[in-house]
Amino acid sequence: AGTLGAAAAQSGRYYGAAIAAGHMNDSTYVATWDREFNAVTPENEMKWDATEPSRGSFRFTSADQIVSHAQSKGMKIRGHTLVWHQQLPSWVSGLSTSDLRSALVNHINNVMGHYKGKIYAWDVVNEAFADGGAVGTLRSSVWTQKLGNGFIEEAFRAARAADPSAKLCYNDYNIDNATAAKTQGVYNMVKDFKARGVPIDCVGLQSHLSSGSVPSNYQQNIAQFAALGVDVQITELDIGGSGSGQADAYRRVTQACTAVPRCTGITVWGITDKYSWRSGDTPLLFDGNYNKKQAYTAVLDALNAA
Ligand code: G3I
Repeated sequence: AGTLGAAAAQSGRYYGAAIAAGHMNDSTYVATWDREFNAVTPENEMKWDATEPSRGSFRFTSADQIVSHAQSKGMKIRGHTLVWHQQLPSWVSGLSTSDLRSALVNHINNVMGHYKGKIYAWDVVNEAFADGGAVGTLRSSVWTQKLGNGFIEEAFRAARAADPSAKLCYNDYNIDNATAAKTQGVYNMVKDFKARGVPIDCVGLQSHLSSGSVPSNYQQNIAQFAALGVDVQITELDIGGSGSGQADAYRRVTQACTAVPRCTGITVWGITDKYSWRSGDTPLLFDGNYNKKQAYTAVLDALNAA
């Protein structure tokens, strides 16, 4: 196949991109999205500060713009994200424990409810694990401080009730190396959730990487999560660098996913280098003029070979 989405679809997978509503007036941006991708993640538009800027008052205008476009093209939609410590409006941090708990459930009910039946997978909890410390250490946030470590489980239970048709994912970065402490912490949590019947369907590996930093056990890592009985998705892929080094890294990541049956799709964190959040780097598949890079061809070939 000649496009990323069609090539991924040959093995039953999707190939998505993060999209910003603010760039949808760029016609080449939208044309490239429509031509190459069969899935989307709103880059910022479904986050708490965008959807519930003040308590109980919900706004979906810019997220709806992305969702209606995606639906009209038959694309899969990943919801990102319900519970995170960033892009949280300040009113959330001022709440008492019991108010925070009801605000959490109310937020999940309203945002998931608004999109009920339309979302393939939700990043229910994003980036809850700490970067350092012993295996299983959560980062300190308003969530852990007021609700304790159980906030993750509470969020997943509320999410299942709010939209039973969506896959529920835990999403994080720096969990790409199979043996790293942070990865092991997430692994243990998923194993525990499966053992106790806490609803969880997928793990999102963000995979913000650099050409030299794709772990040699990356495929083994995908496989170890899949073996717990969850899907794995590469959710925010971008790989710093350029040329053949970057292309090789993209090829390896693609092959690692297609080698594992439960790796169901890949999302790159943007279309063109000109709008990447990693300013000063060129981590995406299209350059600033929407030309296909070497990395693009490496990904397309790897998808076609799967
Ligand atoms: O919309 C405002 C605009 O009105 C204002 O003028 C401008 C001035 O700074 O800021 C704009 O908001 C920015 C927003 O992106 C939209 O462009 C925020 O400052 C900026 O912080 C925000 O950055 C986003 C970042 O998450 C926030 O943490 C990036 O676009 C987005 O790519 C990034 O995505 C995260 C994932 O959600 C989670 N994993 C890591 C990933 C990369 O950081």
